[in-house]
Amino acid sequence: MKPSSFVTAMAAVLVLIAAQHAPLAAGRGPRVIIVGAGMSGISAGKRLWDAGVRDLLILEATGRVGGRMHKHNFGGVNVEIGANWVEGVNGEKTNPIWPMVNSTLNLRNFYSDFDGVVANVYKENGGLYEEEYVQKKMDRADEVEELGGKLAAEMDPSGSDDMSILAMQRIFNHQPNGPATPVDMVLDYFRYDYEFAEPPRATSLQNTEPTATFADFGDDAHFVADQRGFETLVHHIAGQYLSTDNAGNVVDPRLKLNKVVRGIWYNRRGVVVSTEDNSRYSADYVIVSTSLGVLQSDLIQFNPQLPDWKIIAIYRFDMAVYTKIFLKFPRKFWPTGPGKQFFVYASSRRGYYGMWQSFEEEYPGANVLMVTVTDRESRRVEQQPDDATKAEAVAVLRRMFPGVDVPDATDVYVPRWWSDRFFRGSYSNWPIGVNRYEYDQLRAPVGRVYFTGEHTSEHYNGYVHGAYLAGMDSADILINSVFNKVEFKVRGKYDDLQAAAEAM
Ligand SMILES: Cc1cc2nc3c(=O)[nH]c(=O)nc-3n(C[C@H](O)[C@H](O)[C@H](O)COP(=O)(O)OP(=O)(O)OC[C@H]3O[C@@H](n4cnc5c(N)ncnc54)[C@H](O)[C@@H]3O)c2cc1C
Ligand SMILES: *[C@@H]1O[C@H](CO)[C@@H](O)[C@H](O)[C@H]1NC(C)=O
Repeated sequence: MKPSSFVTAMAAVLVLIAAQHAPLAAGRGPRVIIVGAGMSGISAGKRLWDAGVRDLLILEATGRVGGRMHKHNFGGVNVEIGANWVEGVNGEKTNPIWPMVNSTLNLRNFYSDFDGVVANVYKENGGLYEEEYVQKKMDRADEVEELGGKLAAEMDPSGSDDMSILAMQRIFNHQPNGPATPVDMVLDYFRYDYEFAEPPRATSLQNTEPTATFADFGDDAHFVADQRGFETLVHHIAGQYLSTDNAGNVVDPRLKLNKVVRGIWYNRRGVVVSTEDNSRYSADYVIVSTSLGVLQSDLIQFNPQLPDWKIIAIYRFDMAVYTKIFLKFPRKFWPTGPGKQFFVYASSRRGYYGMWQSFEEEYPGANVLMVTVTDRESRRVEQQPDDATKAEAVAVLRRMFPGVDVPDATDVYVPRWWSDRFFRGSYSNWPIGVNRYEYDQLRAPVGRVYFTGEHTSEHYNGYVHGAYLAGMDSADILINSVFNKVEFKVRGKYDDLQAAAEAM
């Protein structure tokens, strides 16, 4: 330990000792610090508040509430650089965020018709593929996906039979040498990478077929395009227990913005949280809601170091990267009208500016296109100047539309979720072979340190509703421990298997 950090640690320990003797602030129950004011942290706070825990302090690193739900003014309109869709709509169960989005807040939203995409696949050197030709390939991929689902349904609940999507495709002799043509490749990309932000090689079959979000809440996805921003949803939940101004912004002393948490000291008696500006806050408990990517970095030092099982769990999961690049043009030159919104570039390089979206209804007159890249391409574009990215994207458009006078983009926006030390990626992806056991470990508390966030969601990791539900679940774990003396128990990796065997 460096001398300076030794002094800091000693100071924190002294604060910790002082904190034990300080009387609890007014209100029932303990003092709880929540690190992060994204969906899950705000949702956890709401649950605690409803349970009567009033002594809350939320520390947020950035200057805003919302985290990965983030509107950004681009070329005169607010676009979403983070979460955009309510995914899982129109099913048997109601996605818990859907009534808030579609009714309470009335956020403008649009059903996304992804089926139409087969008619809009562009060849590498321009012009469209025949719809029938693409549809046939799509149908075959649907069949293979269904076979994969059947295979997954037979698997041991422990995850020990799990395999990658890629291995499953090989088992059914689907594209044994990889996608044979650019169109095969882009359809595969559309199906997997465009949703999970990682290629089929890295994605678990067992957790993907089916994906709980769609199986439970429905197959539809609604694109939120509201000038108030999708983040309004987080502000709305915050407003149920924190003071807001007329514009709906949280203005409450229990929320502190621009507070970058760097250290968390914990022992059996309490916690001390230190921030980059050298503030220190003591409490009875802390809930850490930062992303998996942040947990995998050294931004927050835990003292003592987290136990090995926790570190192993944190590194078992993948933080994927999904990047929505926005381009503004002086005029429209792309096809518009029903079924034309999503179009695809079939490059021979996987994931190279493949998935395009236009916004005639969402942002009328804005002349904005969005192109999505993921994973390696995301990291690459984050590391190059935006002008280079703009030039590449416009060159792709010129190849797609060879007979058309494609003007230069007048503006570009490239979000940098991966480089941003407060996020380090876009959302978690479920790796091969893990089951609820590893998930339980990821969300399990360590002493008085609790964890929440999208990545700790029991069934819906990677989604806004997952973050929302995870916040409540983690708060419940804390509430149960404090008020009912019921400790969170990590279910064994083979528990489900044993239960099944006993039932036989
Ligand atoms: C590009 C992109 C597209 C997406 N698309 C969709 C979609 O269409 N539909 C969907 O359902 N989901 C989508 N998601 C996922 C969704 O946005 C997330 O699952 C959800 O918003 C995560 O909420 P959270 O509270 O878990 O984390 P976050 O929103 O990351 O909240 C954590 C908070 O902690 C703060 N923080 C970090 N470090 C510190 C620190 N040291 N000290 C204090 N505070 C700190 C962060 O600033 C942040 O505000 C997308 C995400 C991205 C990035
Ligand atoms: C969303 O709300 C609109 C208007 O209130 C309603 O007509 C529509 O059916 C709702 N959509 C869904 C999918 O529930």
